[in-house]
Amino acid sequence: MSISNTWGRRLTAFGEWIDARFPMTKMIKEHATEYYAAKNFNFWYGFGVLAMVVLVIQILTGIFLTMSYKPAAADAFASVEYIMRDVDWGWLIRYTHSTGASAFFIVVYLHMFRALMYGSYKKPRELLWLIGMFIYAALMAEAFFGYLLPWGNMSYWGAQVIVSLFGALPGVGEGLAEWIRGDYYISDITLNRFFAFHVIAVPLALVMLVVVHILALHETGSNNPDGIEIKEHKGSDGIPLDGIAFHPYHTSKDLVIIIIFLIVFAMVVFFAPDMGGYFLEHANFEAADRLKTPEHIAPVWYFTPFYAILRAVPSKLGGVLLMGLAVGLLFFLPWLDRCRVKSIRYRGWFFKFALGVFTVSFIALGYLGLQPATGVYTNLARLFTLLYFAFFLLMPLYTSWEKTKPVPERVTK
Ligand code: HEM
Repeated sequence: MSISNTWGRRLTAFGEWIDARFPMTKMIKEHATEYYAAKNFNFWYGFGVLAMVVLVIQILTGIFLTMSYKPAAADAFASVEYIMRDVDWGWLIRYTHSTGASAFFIVVYLHMFRALMYGSYKKPRELLWLIGMFIYAALMAEAFFGYLLPWGNMSYWGAQVIVSLFGALPGVGEGLAEWIRGDYYISDITLNRFFAFHVIAVPLALVMLVVVHILALHETGSNNPDGIEIKEHKGSDGIPLDGIAFHPYHTSKDLVIIIIFLIVFAMVVFFAPDMGGYFLEHANFEAADRLKTPEHIAPVWYFTPFYAILRAVPSKLGGVLLMGLAVGLLFFLPWLDRCRVKSIRYRGWFFKFALGVFTVSFIALGYLGLQPATGVYTNLARLFTLLYFAFFLLMPLYTSWEKTKPVPERVTK
């Protein structure tokens, strides 16, 4: 008997030993080798797996950063400098983590946009969408808490501005803001609790939510660019005619997408880690100073669309409420959209036009959130805020009026 044969038999026996105690083979079959997904996935279907890759990158680099970072107002900024200059490969770990934060939002925004294009939030995937929205909310919290940790001047003033927004709520506001800070201003106490949330509470929630997200996805099955339910056409073997096994067919394509992503990601980490001030803001290269407000306080790019909405409203309370609504409305998308057709391929012009206007508005608001809130910028922010909300609020109307194209029985390309 050859050596490889002996090892092969040992491995099989080990697998059987595990299977008798844990449903390993059953799970591999259910979620990979016998999970059938449509054969016509395009590159838009790569962003889910990329989000998982970035989550792993963030957790791994985060563990190593935590080994040298000090969560105290007196030491935090210097400990980050120490990581950058003295810790072996510290600069690489930190730049990978800071680039990963922006990459996470790029990937997740494109992942969400795919769901908008192909109607992936519609029945029967409403819960999957809601879980996704909770992931998005957790991601925003994670980025917000993490941004205070380097204790740079923008970290400090950014947190100051955002936490003080809670102060706008009538009656309870001031008390709530103080409760969040644990102090009358952003202090060592605030830094300590934000650290706790950033390194354990929110990542734990994120990982659990992602597991639930995948379980929900595998219950309904993936949507596809045609927006057809492949389970409705099964062969005599019970396998969807338009489906192919997730492993090895989709995993091999995903691997190519991951490699391309990692090449682009490494290029940013090595050649443009601050991305001209968009990924790491210039004011954050200075330590936090309670007596020196940066000339221009703006959050990192991924929050600026919502920041622009906040500043577009003259009243602070009105701005806070509208900003909350801008995120909150996304949760209701499955019920705002009344169209019977899922994919943009077979929808009418109303939806295509509305999605186009919404996309332009979101990007424009992102740009305006980085500009000073004066004159023409404020007026433009008001216009795009209006268009942003029109997308959601008029949706029940234009999605029930629009003329759709006939949807094919089986997936096309
Ligand atoms: C850490 C963040 C996230 C991870 C790791 C993740 C992971 C995944 C994966 C692996 C898939 C299957 C592959 C794919 O369709 O791309 C998927 C599908 C999906 N995700 Fe996410 N996701 C995340 C965030 C979100 C968010 C924020 C939303 C929406 C608010 C969302 C909504 C969806 C929907 C609707 C699908 C089904 C798409 C379809 O079948 O057409 N996900 N997700």
